[in-house]
Amino acid sequence: MTRPTEGMGMPDAQPPRGPTRDEPPKLDHDQLVAAQRQTLSESRRRYSVPARALFRALDVVYGRDRTMSKFKVLELVARVPYQTWEQVAYIAVTHVHERLGMARRIQQRVAEARAQQDNEQFHLLILEELISKSGINEGKIKFYWIPQLLAFSYYQLSWLLYVVRPGWSYLLNADFEDHAEHEYMSFASEHPEWENTPFESEIAPDYGDFASLADLFRQIGHDERVHKEESLDLAARPRFR
Ligand SMILES: [Fe+2]
Ligand SMILES: [Fe+2]
Repeated sequence: MTRPTEGMGMPDAQPPRGPTRDEPPKLDHDQLVAAQRQTLSESRRRYSVPARALFRALDVVYGRDRTMSKFKVLELVARVPYQTWEQVAYIAVTHVHERLGMARRIQQRVAEARAQQDNEQFHLLILEELISKSGINEGKIKFYWIPQLLAFSYYQLSWLLYVVRPGWSYLLNADFEDHAEHEYMSFASEHPEWENTPFESEIAPDYGDFASLADLFRQIGHDERVHKEESLDLAARPRFR
């Protein structure tokens, strides 16, 4: 088994200076429309077996239709790999803190994983708020206990892959993010009425203001695209030794 410090997926280079890789950029309306068009014109990744199994399980339990409640479940699971990466990297610093250069590179990964978790968390909170305002009634088993079980299982899988071979964990996440990107962009296009529905949210000061609900979902879709690209970037980097 690979030691955590050997498999962090970081390049053997000087640690970056200045602010860490931040949250995905916020786009204006025209940029969001262009981003949606781009995503919907591109084919999806060829998903791995575990990713396909997860998407299939979500379709079976929550239906094939795109709904806010189904996206909320997706967001509960989406935070998990970033938590895994943060925790493994954090522990790794314990073992290498005397080697300052390596420790700083690993700390960079901790910071990036935290920023991505926060971004996913805002997606979750926004969906929770929209669902609560719409008065949708969600069953406790289907929308609380099953998501907990899914998130727990996905955590174990992400952790195992990351410790054995970090690239596998990044690629699994790239599949997950690619799926989320396409689903959100399709969700926005299925609801033309959202073009004229204002986005009013308590979360807006933290996440961002958007002219419409359609733009909000396009922005979330674009965030997922950025997450996917970051995971592919990390998967492609040589291992640190
Ligand atoms: Fe998300
Ligand atoms: Fe994401």
